Amino acid sequence: MESRKTVFPLLSLFVFSLLLGRGSGRHHVDYRFNSWPTKLFVFGDSYVDTGNIKATNSSSRNLPYGITFPGVPSGRFSDGRVMTDFFANYLELKSPETFIGWRKGGRKGPKYGMNFAFGGTGVFDTSFPFPNMTTQIDFFQGLVANNIFDPKHVGSSVALVSPSGNDYSFYQERNGSMEGLQPFIISVVNQIAVNLKRIQSLGVKKIVVLGLGPVGCLPQPTANSSFKHCNSTTNSMAKVHNLLLKQAVEKLNKDTKGSPFIIFDVYNAILSIIRNKGSPKARARFVTPLKPCCFGVSSEFSCGSVDEKGNKMYTLCKRPKSALFWDSVHPTQQGWFATFSSLASSLKHHL
Ligand SMILES: *[C@@H]1O[C@H](CO)[C@@H](O)[C@H](O)[C@H]1NC(C)=O
Ligand SMILES: *[C@@H]1O[C@H](CO)[C@@H](O)[C@H](O)[C@H]1NC(C)=O
Ligand SMILES: *[C@@H]1O[C@H](CO)[C@@H](O)[C@H](O)[C@H]1NC(C)=O
Ligand SMILES: *[C@@H]1O[C@H](CO)[C@@H](O)[C@H](O)[C@H]1NC(C)=O
Ligand SMILES: *[C@@H]1O[C@H](CO)[C@@H](O)[C@H](O)[C@H]1NC(C)=O
Repeated sequence: MESRKTVFPLLSLFVFSLLLGRGSGRHHVDYRFNSWPTKLFVFGDSYVDTGNIKATNSSSRNLPYGITFPGVPSGRFSDGRVMTDFFANYLELKSPETFIGWRKGGRKGPKYGMNFAFGGTGVFDTSFPFPNMTTQIDFFQGLVANNIFDPKHVGSSVALVSPSGNDYSFYQERNGSMEGLQPFIISVVNQIAVNLKRIQSLGVKKIVVLGLGPVGCLPQPTANSSFKHCNSTTNSMAKVHNLLLKQAVEKLNKDTKGSPFIIFDVYNAILSIIRNKGSPKARARFVTPLKPCCFGVSSEFSCGSVDEKGNKMYTLCKRPKSALFWDSVHPTQQGWFATFSSLASSLKHHL
């Protein structure tokens, strides 16, 4: 009954983060880099992974993932572009090559940076057999040590770091409940701070970290109210995480010259899109913002699931562009676009 052929259950309850938008270019001259960044390095989970997972049973490698862009499944957990693509565009760079793609191709130093993110991962190990954030940073460190990336280029780069909640979904999966979560939130945030500091110590000049989104508003927790009501308990835990993250980042900035660390407030960006049923600025409209475009026909199935006979066990909306969420935990391309548009303007203020 259970369909084997599909899907890592994406992230899970708590995955979160996100963003993106379509930057348009050079008018962001107020961006406070000494020089325009020439590379983007990406760490984290499915909110930013652009194809490091090659396993054919990953949902990201199956239709209908990728139908909007590039038209076939690309390893992105969306119908199209994800946060990374919009962020790279904002920086006027191409979306950086994936670490796994680069390693297979054995080419020389990638021009636009590198994406080390793997869907399903956390700062600690999760149920997915992919490199945690520490290991992702180890890969980066190895490439810098081997001069694949010249220290000079690393010095004019930006990092995008997405710890969007898989640690918490895994906690719930393993413990069977969210009890005793508070101390765990503290350890997750402490580990994020260690990771940020390490990326900075490898020479990266600006490091953007995603706060948790309103995880209680993800289709997974709202399914039992027919996608009408966010789970406020779950959202409260995201707020605790975000508050601790803010304190940790303020401390890191105080201890480091040039305030290199920046938080993307994904929580308020997405919540405001939900409340406004869209984003006028991004010209995005989501009439039923909590309702995902692609969803399993019952709780055992997820977007992309097929049964033994190949029958689709999911429903798909007609226009992914009209949905904020793509599947049970990930935004659509349009959702990312709207979210990033909002974050990019905050970036401009802070930089
Ligand atoms: C995908 O395949 C790998 C390797 O065969 C297996 O370990 C993993 O459990 C599979 N994942 C799912 C969701 O079926
Ligand atoms: C990350 O993964 C590595 C390799 O599996 C493991 O040794 C390490 O303990 C993990 N780090 C954290 C912080 O969980
Ligand atoms: C839940 O998991 C955490 C972290 O591994 C552990 O420290 C804690 O004791 C567990 N709590 C319960 C109620 O099982
Ligand atoms: C949703 O879940 C909550 C808590 O598990 C439960 O109390 C409630 O009855 C559920 N609502 C529906 C419509 O199933
Ligand atoms: C909200 O989420 C919490 C934590 O997962 C759960 O215990 C609770 O039942 C949920 N509430 C509703 C109304 O679904």
